[in-house]
Amino acid sequence: DAVYLCFDVGGTNIKAGLVDASGTILAKQSVVTQTDEQANSVLKQFLELQNVLCRESGITLEHIRAASIGVAGFVEMETGTVTRAVNLGWHDVPVAEKVSSMLGMPVFVINDANAAALGEMWQGAGKGLDDLLCLTIGTGVGGGVIANGRIVNGAYGLAGEIGHFRVKIKDGRLCNCGKTGCLETEASASAIAYYGERAARQYPRGRLAQRLKQAGTLTSKDVAEAAQKGDKAACEVIEHAAYYLGYALASIFTVTAPIRIVIGGGVAAAGSLLFTPLIHWFREFALPDIKDKNIIAPAVLGNDAGIIGLAKLAKMNLLSLSGIE
Ligand code: BGC
Ligand code: NA
Ligand code: ZN
Repeated sequence: DAVYLCFDVGGTNIKAGLVDASGTILAKQSVVTQTDEQANSVLKQFLELQNVLCRESGITLEHIRAASIGVAGFVEMETGTVTRAVNLGWHDVPVAEKVSSMLGMPVFVINDANAAALGEMWQGAGKGLDDLLCLTIGTGVGGGVIANGRIVNGAYGLAGEIGHFRVKIKDGRLCNCGKTGCLETEASASAIAYYGERAARQYPRGRLAQRLKQAGTLTSKDVAEAAQKGDKAACEVIEHAAYYLGYALASIFTVTAPIRIVIGGGVAAAGSLLFTPLIHWFREFALPDIKDKNIIAPAVLGNDAGIIGLAKLAKMNLLSLSGIE
């Protein structure tokens, strides 16, 4: 069976895996992303990860059919170039060219959320569905749009950049993309951590303040945990994110009307704390015709969605290039 070397490069972690053509993960690894403007440190990490994965699985380089790479940025898929990755600081990086000369195999590059969408369509919450939207809420907010069974990448690779949908028209915070008030500055894991710290300062006797004092900084997970324990300020931070997510998704729904909107990424682990208000606001802002339909659903592949989707991409591309997957 064909094996693909998959790298899912997120704003915080690189998830790497050897995945076969049926979507089974043979070995996987995760490391903290080390980034620089031309991505040279990430390329070094690729080599190290490839060595570890091969050692662990007993699979040798000549058995790997292709490398498939997801990047948290704007990707021109035809050339495999990342024109900009706002949370990685990359500018015009010819990823496919660099990696194929390093590893000597075909290389495919795709946006990270698009890869997750392919994964969820193939094996996860979107199985068998042709019109799907996958939202990943982590360091950034990513979107993967699938229409008629195909990824919509758009002009300049900018389709599905839902994280940079402006939701706070006035007085928004500055986003790494250069605009203000993006969905990402209101509802990403980083935004939830930011608003959590703000709430901690506002309520110095609350659970968030306690946690901040212990740890020196807050994560979105800390905020979700405090909310789970009934902390009111923490619940408000999650509800704030859910409000803007509901608003953005209802607006975006009007464009391709996906039958399912799959929500993944670390923040989705907050569960009903996030989903209940999110579905409420989505219904509030969307056309009344969808009121009784269950469009929003949690992702099922968790952290593996990216690498599984990357295997699917490699398989599809190899098949259409040479007829052999
Ligand atoms: C980037 C997207 C990416 C998302 C999630 C956003 O800031 O612009 O390309 O998909 O973060 O990583
Ligand atoms: Na995308
Ligand atoms: Zn932005």
